[in-house]
Amino acid sequence: MEKTRRELLRDGSRAAAGLAVASTFSPSNPLGVAEALAKSPKLKRPGFNLGCKSLTAETHLRHLPVDGKMPRWLTGSLLRNGPALFEIGEERFNHWFDGLAMLHAFSFDRGRVSYRNRFLRSSAYKAWKKEGRIKYSELATDPVPDPCRQIFSGVSTMPVLGRIPNANVSIEELAGEFRALTEIPIPVRFNPKSLKSLGTDGAVMQGRLGTAHPHHDPATGERLSYEIELVPPSGLRIITEKRGRRRELAFIPQASPGYLHSFGLTKRYVVVVTQPWNFNFSKFLSPDRGPIITNYEWHPDQPSTIILVDRKRGGVVRTFETDPFFAFHHINAYERKGRVVIDVCAHKDAGSIDALYLKKIRKHNDVPQARYRRFEVNPSTGRLTKRDLIEAVFELPQKNYDAVNGRPYRYAYGVGLKGNGSGYIDQLVKADVKKGESKIWRERGVYPGEPVYVPRPHARHEDDGVIMSVVLDGRRRASALVVLDAKSMHEIARASVPHHIPFGFHGLYTR
Ligand code: CO
Repeated sequence: MEKTRRELLRDGSRAAAGLAVASTFSPSNPLGVAEALAKSPKLKRPGFNLGCKSLTAETHLRHLPVDGKMPRWLTGSLLRNGPALFEIGEERFNHWFDGLAMLHAFSFDRGRVSYRNRFLRSSAYKAWKKEGRIKYSELATDPVPDPCRQIFSGVSTMPVLGRIPNANVSIEELAGEFRALTEIPIPVRFNPKSLKSLGTDGAVMQGRLGTAHPHHDPATGERLSYEIELVPPSGLRIITEKRGRRRELAFIPQASPGYLHSFGLTKRYVVVVTQPWNFNFSKFLSPDRGPIITNYEWHPDQPSTIILVDRKRGGVVRTFETDPFFAFHHINAYERKGRVVIDVCAHKDAGSIDALYLKKIRKHNDVPQARYRRFEVNPSTGRLTKRDLIEAVFELPQKNYDAVNGRPYRYAYGVGLKGNGSGYIDQLVKADVKKGESKIWRERGVYPGEPVYVPRPHARHEDDGVIMSVVLDGRRRASALVVLDAKSMHEIARASVPHHIPFGFHGLYTR
């Protein structure tokens, strides 16, 4: 049985590899794929749009074909999260952030690799299976109004949220439990082996957002996060939790709360960088409010603000204003000689969110570009300086988290694109912030996802380990897990999946 499955998989993989050749002779494609690739500017990025194409099958493949030598010391799993269903019947999700969450697991055993995927059993998933429609609001999609309900109960101005959120952004490991996260602050627990959803603790609160990027401090045993209250009294709440006990470190009142996606952590401070992309509550209350995200407005005349919150005593220590920019991701932060160093992926403005509407990604095959920007602030003098650390475009940052989060560090890993022109993510970047240099991994027609760093057992150096990235191989029209040596960024091994995996967001490696 197992042998048959393996053979099937190998055949499947070969079939996938041969797809481009086979379809050359298709009558619906008289030019042939290979010729079309060469001649049509629209196919400049072959296979790219598979990254925004739904994947509906749930599979378990015991042995992926492996090229190269998968390190035998890898014995855990790479868990990934991201959207995988972008339409239900005739109804479409608008934005990359809206698709139904799918979990993926690549598991390692003495050089062998297995793969499993499974949709998160969110309320949105259940409505797909039982009712065949988009029933709940996502960040940029509202359900199609039900005319009967509108006539009898009036139009609701509040988004319709499911009881179990479509947590498609990231994964957190907390006290041995695994949780899928999004910006609705209710984690969905799941089993890391079977990927079966185990439900939620607590209830969804209308008008409250959270973060899919909490921090964990191994030195204190704390989990740090924030909540944003959109409904007055609106503002930003910084929270620390320890063994289930929760403490509010600060509540920062904000008349029009800005959008936030992550934050930084040092030994003494929680570092928040707000940006002038603000929630307009009166627009939100009007009948033509649109999905949640359409109620944010960019104010180019207003600054971005760096806020330092005291982790021990609570409260805001100092704020610093700087020219407006937009950031999803903090890379790292730490204290040095009385100053605080804050590294972020800095975008020009909130146009980066607009660029990620599915229609736009599919049409332009472009993504917004971020710079590796360092701010240094002095809490005693109020002085702020900033500069970009490397030349390469840099997003979806990862690092040797356990060793360097909140501390001076040298290396971070991210995705980028060649030449800094327009285009989609087509390379992995290792940034050396000490030298201001970067090392690049790229392969033509291959679109990599977030690079996850995994330290070698008993590693002595910050970059003594491997990088894992799920890549979409546009030529093969299927995805693969690529493993690189973190020092050199050279490829060590690749495990091929016989189908495509839509572009995802975040994940983690668990032993
Ligand atoms: Co993120």
